[in-house]
Amino acid sequence: MVDVVLGAFYGDEGKGKLIDYLSKNAKYSVRFSGGNNAGHTIEVDGKKFAFHLIPSGILNKDCKAVLGNGVVINPEVLIKEIENLKKNGYDCNNLYISDKAHVIFPYHIIFDKVQEELRKERKIGTTGRGIGPAYEDKFQRCGIRMEDFINEGKLALYLKENIDNKNMILEGYGYREYTLDFNEVYRQYKEYAKFLKQYVCDTTKMFHQAIDSNEKILCEGAQATLLDIDFGTYPYVTSSNPTIGGVSTGTGIGSRYIDNVYAVIKAYSSRVGEGPYVTELTDEVGDKIRELGHEYGTTTGRPRRCGWLDLVALNYAIKLNGVTDICMNHLDTVGKLNEIKLCTAYEVDGKKEEYFSSNLDFLNKAKPMYEKFKGDFDIKGIKKYDELPKDAKDYVQAVEDITKTPVSFIGTGPDREDIIVRDKKVLTLKQ
Ligand code: GDP
Ligand code: IMO
Ligand code: MG
Repeated sequence: MVDVVLGAFYGDEGKGKLIDYLSKNAKYSVRFSGGNNAGHTIEVDGKKFAFHLIPSGILNKDCKAVLGNGVVINPEVLIKEIENLKKNGYDCNNLYISDKAHVIFPYHIIFDKVQEELRKERKIGTTGRGIGPAYEDKFQRCGIRMEDFINEGKLALYLKENIDNKNMILEGYGYREYTLDFNEVYRQYKEYAKFLKQYVCDTTKMFHQAIDSNEKILCEGAQATLLDIDFGTYPYVTSSNPTIGGVSTGTGIGSRYIDNVYAVIKAYSSRVGEGPYVTELTDEVGDKIRELGHEYGTTTGRPRRCGWLDLVALNYAIKLNGVTDICMNHLDTVGKLNEIKLCTAYEVDGKKEEYFSSNLDFLNKAKPMYEKFKGDFDIKGIKKYDELPKDAKDYVQAVEDITKTPVSFIGTGPDREDIIVRDKKVLTLKQ
């Protein structure tokens, strides 16, 4: 059985929390795309864990936490994450790294910064973690995979080639001060490789064996649908496919084995970095949501842009990913507002438009059309859907009616216990 958790919008929807919950009865918790541009927060008894690379399921010791082949790995960051977990009593013996995952080197981070500088006002607002350049090398076929990284001879050879090549380009751009010394990088990365070697294996084989043994695999999406390199708001996107196709290419699991696809949303929305955002609030309501929801990036600490929930975009995400269920986090946060708005359509060139397009001209013209709902509800500690106040239920029901998709999980606070899990059978969806 393979289940997938994906972000529906621009990331930071609270995927980590749902993964943590679902991994309780999973044998594998798997990252399939992205790298340490992701930041997934889980709160356990008031203690915060922020994961950038290691799948959130690592906290469940009976679950194997796997970094699939589609992930790009910064070894230094990964080692720090392992050490931090060890300090907190998690031995990380349940961590596995794909031999085909690519490694992020210092030159990727340098190129990320240089490319942003050169783009000037058209900059993307990347996380600066070298993600795009690492994927560039993967597709250019000069990237270094884990299997070669842990082989000292190959690492020396490939790294030398890459550093010579990158230094030449940097000099050409007039960035001589950023050029790297091969020996220095090699000395350090050889040590990282020695440490990580114990975790590297053929993870695709593991997944195929797990499928044959009917073991549950949970795939943890990073980033989100509208940041997808193909289907997102290009070029204001990340450099991988965080949508459903990325699960198969990033793990080696055939799509016919996928059962449930959970789309995580917030009861409002947020975005970090540049790019269009139809329901963005640049007024004091947006500021209030940012403060109430603590909307500051887990990875870069940047204040997140905030706005209302956009069902035009959500319907697009549902069809793209084949979503079976929605997890709506932060219902507690919108309950602290007097009034909540839900975007149900766009107005484009004076016409009502209910279908999303990632075309930038379309999105820049689109004006949100809203339905209003009553806020002012307190749902702290509520564990059952039936016990939610009527105004909270009305809001959730509207999302279900318009998306024709069950909201099976509701977040009522940041702690791992702050979640309402609904029984699918009691849902009544209007056709
Ligand atoms: P991810 O990248 O999708 O895993 O999400 P992040 O961890 O970057 O951001 C989500 C933030 O919302 C984190 O600070 C979570 O602790 C917090 N969070 C998640 N679910 C809820 C919820 O239901 N209510 C509240 N108040 N906070 C939540
Ligand atoms: P999680 O998994 C929010 C955004 C960046 C930038 C764009 C490209 O925590 O939801 P990149 O460094 O990937 O080249 O930056 O994508 N971005 C995210 N925004 N959450 C994330 O991950 C993100 N990962 C990348 O802000 O706009
Ligand atoms: Mg995040």
